[in-house]
Amino acid sequence: MNLQELNQIRDTALAEARNAADAAALESVRIKYLGRNGLLPEVMAQLKEVPNEEKPVFGKSANALKNELTELIKERQTQLTSGSKKADAFDPTQPGLWPELGSEHPISQVTARIVEIFQSIGFTVADGPDIETVWNNFDALNTPADHPSRDEQDTFYLNSGDLLRCHTSPVQVRYMESHKPPIRIIAPGRCYRRDTPDATHSANFHQVEGLFVSENVSMADLKGTLAYFAKQFLGDEVKIRFRPHFFPFTEPSFEVDFFFEVGGKARWIEILGAGMVDPNVFRKVGYDPEKVTGFAFGMGIERLAMILYGIKDIRNLYENDVRFLSQF
Ligand code: DAH
Repeated sequence: MNLQELNQIRDTALAEARNAADAAALESVRIKYLGRNGLLPEVMAQLKEVPNEEKPVFGKSANALKNELTELIKERQTQLTSGSKKADAFDPTQPGLWPELGSEHPISQVTARIVEIFQSIGFTVADGPDIETVWNNFDALNTPADHPSRDEQDTFYLNSGDLLRCHTSPVQVRYMESHKPPIRIIAPGRCYRRDTPDATHSANFHQVEGLFVSENVSMADLKGTLAYFAKQFLGDEVKIRFRPHFFPFTEPSFEVDFFFEVGGKARWIEILGAGMVDPNVFRKVGYDPEKVTGFAFGMGIERLAMILYGIKDIRNLYENDVRFLSQF
Protein backbone atom coordinates (compact mmCIF):
# COMPACT_ATOMS: atom_id res chain seq x y z
CA MET A 1 0.00 0.00 0.00
CA ASN A 2 1.35 3.41 -0.92
CA LEU A 3 0.21 6.99 -1.28
CA GLN A 4 -0.87 6.57 -4.88
CA GLU A 5 -3.14 3.64 -4.03
CA LEU A 6 -4.59 5.60 -1.16
CA ASN A 7 -5.43 8.46 -3.51
CA GLN A 8 -7.24 6.04 -5.80
CA ILE A 9 -9.28 4.72 -2.89
CA ARG A 10 -10.07 8.32 -1.98
CA ASP A 11 -11.36 9.18 -5.45
CA THR A 12 -13.63 6.12 -5.74
CA ALA A 13 -14.91 6.38 -2.16
CA LEU A 14 -15.93 10.05 -2.53
CA ALA A 15 -17.45 9.41 -5.96
CA GLU A 16 -19.50 6.48 -4.68
CA ALA A 17 -20.77 8.49 -1.75
CA ARG A 18 -21.66 11.40 -4.02
CA ASN A 19 -23.47 9.17 -6.51
CA ALA A 20 -25.39 6.97 -4.09
CA ALA A 21 -28.95 7.01 -5.41
CA ASP A 22 -30.78 6.47 -2.14
CA ALA A 23 -30.28 6.05 1.58
CA ALA A 24 -29.72 2.28 1.27
CA ALA A 25 -27.00 2.68 -1.37
CA LEU A 26 -25.32 5.33 0.77
CA GLU A 27 -25.38 3.02 3.75
CA SER A 28 -23.59 0.33 1.70
CA VAL A 29 -20.90 2.86 0.79
CA ARG A 30 -20.51 3.75 4.46
CA ILE A 31 -20.13 0.09 5.45
CA LYS A 32 -17.75 -0.59 2.56
CA TYR A 33 -15.31 2.15 3.57
CA LEU A 34 -15.93 3.10 7.19
CA GLY A 35 -17.42 -0.08 8.64
CA ARG A 36 -15.49 -2.13 11.17
CA ASN A 37 -14.20 -4.42 8.38
CA GLY A 38 -14.21 -1.64 5.81
CA LEU A 39 -11.45 -0.45 3.53
CA LEU A 40 -10.27 2.50 5.61
CA PRO A 41 -9.59 0.56 8.84
CA GLU A 42 -7.73 -1.89 6.65
CA VAL A 43 -5.65 0.91 5.13
CA MET A 44 -4.79 2.13 8.64
CA ALA A 45 -3.75 -1.36 9.63
CA GLN A 46 -1.32 -1.42 6.68
CA LEU A 47 0.48 1.73 7.76
CA LYS A 48 3.46 -0.27 8.91
CA GLU A 49 4.02 -1.66 5.36
CA VAL A 50 4.18 1.83 3.86
CA PRO A 51 7.71 2.98 2.94
CA ASN A 52 9.19 4.98 5.80
CA GLU A 53 9.54 8.29 3.96
CA GLU A 54 5.85 8.19 2.96
CA LYS A 55 4.57 7.24 6.39
CA PRO A 56 3.82 10.73 7.87
CA VAL A 57 2.05 11.98 4.73
CA PHE A 58 0.24 8.66 4.26
CA GLY A 59 -1.04 8.67 7.86
CA LYS A 60 -2.27 12.23 7.55
CA SER A 61 -3.98 11.59 4.21
CA ALA A 62 -5.68 8.45 5.47
CA ASN A 63 -7.04 10.36 8.46
CA ALA A 64 -8.17 13.25 6.30
CA LEU A 65 -9.96 10.85 3.97
CA LYS A 66 -11.79 9.26 6.89
CA ASN A 67 -13.02 12.67 8.08
CA GLU A 68 -13.91 13.88 4.63
CA LEU A 69 -15.86 10.74 3.79
CA THR A 70 -17.68 10.73 7.14
CA GLU A 71 -18.76 14.36 6.59
CA LEU A 72 -19.85 13.75 3.03
CA ILE A 73 -21.92 10.72 3.99
CA LYS A 74 -23.63 12.66 6.78
CA GLU A 75 -24.47 15.46 4.39
CA ARG A 76 -25.80 13.08 1.73
CA GLN A 77 -27.81 11.25 4.37
CA THR A 78 -29.75 14.35 5.33
CA GLN A 79 -30.21 15.25 1.69
CA LEU A 80 -31.56 11.83 0.79
CA THR A 81 -33.80 11.36 3.85
CA SER A 82 -35.33 14.87 3.79
CA GLY A 83 -35.99 14.36 0.10
CA SER A 84 -37.72 11.05 0.73
CA LYS A 85 -39.75 12.51 3.62
CA LYS A 86 -41.01 15.24 1.36
CA ALA A 87 -41.87 12.72 -1.30
CA ASP A 88 -43.80 10.56 1.20
CA ALA A 89 -45.43 13.51 2.97
CA PHE A 90 -48.11 14.23 0.42
CA ASP A 91 -50.85 11.73 1.01
CA PRO A 92 -54.02 12.88 -0.76
CA THR A 93 -56.14 10.50 1.33
CA GLN A 94 -55.22 12.22 4.61
CA PRO A 95 -57.70 14.66 6.15
CA GLY A 96 -56.69 18.31 5.79
CA LEU A 97 -54.80 20.24 8.45
CA TRP A 98 -57.19 22.18 10.66
CA PRO A 99 -56.02 25.49 12.04
CA GLU A 100 -56.21 25.28 15.82
CA LEU A 101 -59.36 27.00 17.05
CA GLY A 102 -59.16 29.29 20.04
CA SER A 103 -61.97 29.70 22.53
CA GLU A 104 -63.95 32.72 23.63
CA HIS A 105 -62.32 34.48 26.57
CA PRO A 106 -64.20 33.91 29.86
CA ILE A 107 -64.69 37.68 30.23
CA SER A 108 -66.28 37.85 26.77
CA GLN A 109 -68.45 34.82 27.56
CA VAL A 110 -69.79 36.26 30.81
CA THR A 111 -70.32 39.69 29.23
CA ALA A 112 -72.17 38.19 26.27
CA ARG A 113 -74.44 36.17 28.55
CA ILE A 114 -75.34 39.21 30.70
CA VAL A 115 -76.02 41.36 27.64
CA GLU A 116 -78.13 38.63 26.04
CA ILE A 117 -80.34 38.32 29.13
CA PHE A 118 -80.99 42.06 29.31
CA GLN A 119 -81.56 42.27 25.56
CA SER A 120 -84.28 39.65 25.96
CA ILE A 121 -86.25 42.12 28.10
CA GLY A 122 -85.81 45.12 25.85
CA PHE A 123 -82.48 46.66 26.84
CA THR A 124 -80.23 47.82 24.02
CA VAL A 125 -76.44 47.99 24.09
CA ALA A 126 -74.80 51.39 24.52
CA ASP A 127 -71.17 52.28 24.95
CA GLY A 128 -68.76 55.08 25.67
CA PRO A 129 -65.03 55.76 25.40
CA ASP A 130 -62.40 54.62 27.90
CA ILE A 131 -61.08 58.20 28.09
CA GLU A 132 -63.77 60.25 29.77
CA THR A 133 -64.34 63.79 30.94
CA VAL A 134 -64.37 64.51 34.65
CA TRP A 135 -67.95 65.72 34.12
CA ASN A 136 -69.22 62.42 32.74
CA ASN A 137 -67.25 60.24 35.14
CA PHE A 138 -67.88 62.25 38.33
CA ASP A 139 -69.70 65.61 38.32
CA ALA A 140 -72.79 64.59 36.37
CA LEU A 141 -72.96 61.48 38.51
CA ASN A 142 -73.38 63.67 41.57
CA THR A 143 -69.89 62.76 42.80
CA PRO A 144 -68.50 65.89 44.49
CA ALA A 145 -64.93 67.08 44.19
CA ASP A 146 -64.13 65.87 47.69
CA HIS A 147 -65.31 62.32 47.04
CA PRO A 148 -62.49 59.83 47.74
CA SER A 149 -62.76 58.16 44.32
CA ARG A 150 -61.76 61.47 42.71
CA ASP A 151 -58.42 61.37 44.50
CA GLU A 152 -55.39 61.45 42.21
CA GLN A 153 -54.30 58.30 43.99
CA ASP A 154 -57.33 56.38 42.78
CA THR A 155 -57.90 57.47 39.20
CA PHE A 156 -55.67 57.86 36.13
CA TYR A 157 -55.72 61.50 34.98
CA LEU A 158 -54.41 62.55 31.59
CA ASN A 159 -52.53 65.78 30.94
CA SER A 160 -55.55 67.04 29.02
CA GLY A 161 -57.55 66.95 32.25
CA ASP A 162 -59.58 63.96 31.10
CA LEU A 163 -59.30 60.61 32.82
CA LEU A 164 -59.56 56.88 32.27
CA ARG A 165 -63.09 56.06 33.40
CA CYS A 166 -63.17 54.25 36.73
CA HIS A 167 -66.59 52.71 36.07
CA THR A 168 -69.07 52.32 33.21
CA SER A 169 -71.53 54.73 34.86
CA PRO A 170 -70.49 57.70 32.64
CA VAL A 171 -72.26 55.90 29.79
CA GLN A 172 -75.49 56.74 31.66
CA VAL A 173 -74.63 60.44 31.39
CA ARG A 174 -73.64 60.27 27.72
CA TYR A 175 -76.79 58.40 26.83
CA MET A 176 -79.19 60.61 28.76
CA GLU A 177 -77.58 63.78 27.40
CA SER A 178 -78.14 62.54 23.85
CA HIS A 179 -81.49 60.72 24.15
CA LYS A 180 -84.93 61.44 25.48
CA PRO A 181 -86.61 59.07 27.94
CA PRO A 182 -87.74 56.31 28.03
CA ILE A 183 -84.32 54.65 28.17
CA ARG A 184 -83.36 51.03 28.61
CA ILE A 185 -79.64 50.41 28.09
CA ILE A 186 -76.98 47.93 29.03
CA ALA A 187 -73.37 49.10 28.65
CA PRO A 188 -70.45 46.68 28.95
CA GLY A 189 -66.93 48.03 28.87
CA ARG A 190 -63.44 48.42 30.26
CA CYS A 191 -62.63 50.48 33.36
CA TYR A 192 -59.47 51.64 35.09
CA ARG A 193 -58.36 52.20 38.66
CA ARG A 194 -55.04 52.84 40.28
CA ASP A 195 -54.95 49.46 42.00
CA THR A 196 -51.75 47.57 42.58
CA PRO A 197 -52.23 44.24 40.82
CA ASP A 198 -52.64 41.23 43.06
CA ALA A 199 -54.82 38.10 43.07
CA THR A 200 -58.04 40.15 43.27
CA HIS A 201 -57.08 43.59 41.90
CA SER A 202 -56.21 44.80 38.45
CA ALA A 203 -55.65 48.32 37.16
CA ASN A 204 -58.04 47.59 34.34
CA PHE A 205 -61.12 45.46 34.48
CA HIS A 206 -64.64 45.25 33.05
CA GLN A 207 -68.10 46.27 34.17
CA VAL A 208 -71.61 46.13 32.80
CA GLU A 209 -73.82 49.13 33.48
CA GLY A 210 -77.60 49.14 33.27
CA LEU A 211 -80.00 52.09 33.14
CA PHE A 212 -83.80 52.25 32.95
CA VAL A 213 -85.51 55.64 32.87
CA SER A 214 -89.19 56.23 32.29
CA GLU A 215 -92.28 57.49 34.10
CA ASN A 216 -93.21 55.84 37.38
CA VAL A 217 -90.23 53.49 37.53
CA SER A 218 -90.07 52.10 41.05
CA MET A 219 -87.95 49.92 43.32
CA ALA A 220 -90.29 47.07 42.38
CA ASP A 221 -89.14 47.38 38.76
CA LEU A 222 -85.51 47.30 39.87
CA LYS A 223 -86.10 44.24 42.04
CA GLY A 224 -88.12 42.45 39.39
CA THR A 225 -85.54 43.14 36.69
CA LEU A 226 -82.59 41.98 38.80
CA ALA A 227 -84.48 38.91 40.04
CA TYR A 228 -85.24 37.99 36.43
CA PHE A 229 -81.60 38.45 35.52
CA ALA A 230 -80.42 36.34 38.49
CA LYS A 231 -82.71 33.45 37.52
CA GLN A 232 -81.74 33.53 33.87
CA PHE A 233 -78.08 33.75 34.75
CA LEU A 234 -77.86 31.19 37.55
CA GLY A 235 -81.04 29.14 37.53
CA ASP A 236 -84.44 29.24 39.22
CA GLU A 237 -83.17 28.35 42.71
CA VAL A 238 -81.18 31.56 43.07
CA LYS A 239 -82.36 34.07 45.71
CA ILE A 240 -81.51 37.75 45.80
CA ARG A 241 -81.32 40.33 48.58
CA PHE A 242 -80.75 44.09 48.72
CA ARG A 243 -78.44 45.58 51.34
CA PRO A 244 -78.60 49.36 51.89
CA HIS A 245 -75.42 51.05 50.68
CA PHE A 246 -74.27 54.42 49.37
CA PHE A 247 -73.53 55.52 45.83
CA PRO A 248 -73.52 59.23 44.94
CA PHE A 249 -75.59 58.73 41.77
CA THR A 250 -78.43 56.67 43.23
CA GLU A 251 -80.83 57.25 46.12
CA PRO A 252 -81.63 54.88 47.70
CA SER A 253 -78.60 52.72 46.86
CA PHE A 254 -77.98 49.03 47.43
CA GLU A 255 -75.50 46.27 47.18
CA VAL A 256 -77.24 43.25 45.75
CA ASP A 257 -76.28 39.72 46.79
CA PHE A 258 -77.25 36.49 45.06
CA PHE A 259 -77.64 33.22 46.97
CA PHE A 260 -76.45 30.33 44.83
CA GLU A 261 -74.26 27.29 44.78
CA VAL A 262 -70.57 27.60 44.00
CA GLY A 263 -68.07 24.83 44.59
CA GLY A 264 -70.82 22.57 45.95
CA LYS A 265 -72.03 25.04 48.59
CA ALA A 266 -74.80 27.65 48.38
CA ARG A 267 -74.03 31.04 49.97
CA TRP A 268 -74.73 34.77 49.66
CA ILE A 269 -72.34 36.48 47.25
CA GLU A 270 -72.20 40.20 46.54
CA ILE A 271 -72.81 40.63 42.81
CA LEU A 272 -73.64 44.23 41.98
CA GLY A 273 -74.40 47.79 42.99
CA ALA A 274 -77.77 49.33 42.17
CA GLY A 275 -80.26 51.99 43.11
CA MET A 276 -82.85 54.53 42.02
CA VAL A 277 -81.29 57.29 39.90
CA ASP A 278 -80.62 60.32 42.09
CA PRO A 279 -82.74 63.37 41.11
CA ASN A 280 -79.52 65.41 41.02
CA VAL A 281 -78.24 63.22 38.18
CA PHE A 282 -81.44 63.83 36.21
CA ARG A 283 -81.03 67.59 36.72
CA LYS A 284 -77.42 67.51 35.52
CA VAL A 285 -78.34 65.78 32.25
CA GLY A 286 -81.34 68.05 31.70
CA TYR A 287 -84.15 65.67 32.70
CA ASP A 288 -86.97 66.74 34.97
CA PRO A 289 -86.93 64.56 38.13
CA GLU A 290 -90.58 65.50 38.71
CA LYS A 291 -91.46 63.74 35.47
CA VAL A 292 -89.10 60.77 35.22
CA THR A 293 -87.70 58.19 37.57
CA GLY A 294 -85.30 55.34 36.91
CA PHE A 295 -83.00 52.69 38.24
CA ALA A 296 -79.38 51.91 37.50
CA PHE A 297 -77.01 49.09 38.31
CA GLY A 298 -73.41 48.10 37.69
CA MET A 299 -71.49 44.88 38.11
CA GLY A 300 -67.90 43.74 37.79
CA ILE A 301 -67.34 41.06 35.16
CA GLU A 302 -64.03 39.69 36.42
CA ARG A 303 -65.45 39.00 39.87
CA LEU A 304 -68.41 37.23 38.35
CA ALA A 305 -66.23 35.13 36.03
CA MET A 306 -63.94 34.22 38.94
CA ILE A 307 -66.87 33.10 41.10
CA LEU A 308 -68.53 31.15 38.30
CA TYR A 309 -65.41 29.37 37.09
CA GLY A 310 -63.56 29.09 40.38
CA ILE A 311 -60.66 31.24 39.17
CA LYS A 312 -58.38 32.08 42.10
CA ASP A 313 -56.19 34.80 40.57
CA ILE A 314 -57.53 37.68 38.45
CA ARG A 315 -54.19 37.90 36.62
CA ASN A 316 -54.92 34.56 34.94
CA LEU A 317 -57.56 36.41 32.95
CA TYR A 318 -55.00 38.72 31.35
CA GLU A 319 -52.01 36.47 30.75
CA ASN A 320 -53.63 34.86 27.70
CA ASP A 321 -52.12 31.47 28.33
CA VAL A 322 -54.05 29.16 25.98
CA ARG A 323 -53.73 26.28 28.43
CA PHE A 324 -55.76 28.37 30.88
CA LEU A 325 -58.17 29.91 28.38
CA SER A 326 -59.03 26.68 26.58
CA GLN A 327 -60.66 25.35 29.76
CA PHE A 328 -63.68 27.60 29.40
N1 DAH B 1 -70.30 52.53 39.43
C1 DAH B 1 -70.34 51.70 40.62
C2 DAH B 1 -68.95 51.16 40.89
O1 DAH B 1 -68.12 51.18 40.04
C3 DAH B 1 -71.27 50.53 40.44
C4 DAH B 1 -72.69 50.99 40.40
C5 DAH B 1 -73.41 51.09 41.57
C6 DAH B 1 -73.30 51.35 39.23
C7 DAH B 1 -74.72 51.53 41.58
C8 DAH B 1 -74.62 51.79 39.22
C9 DAH B 1 -75.31 51.86 40.42
O2 DAH B 1 -75.24 52.13 38.10
O3 DAH B 1 -76.61 52.28 40.40
O4 DAH B 1 -68.68 50.73 41.99
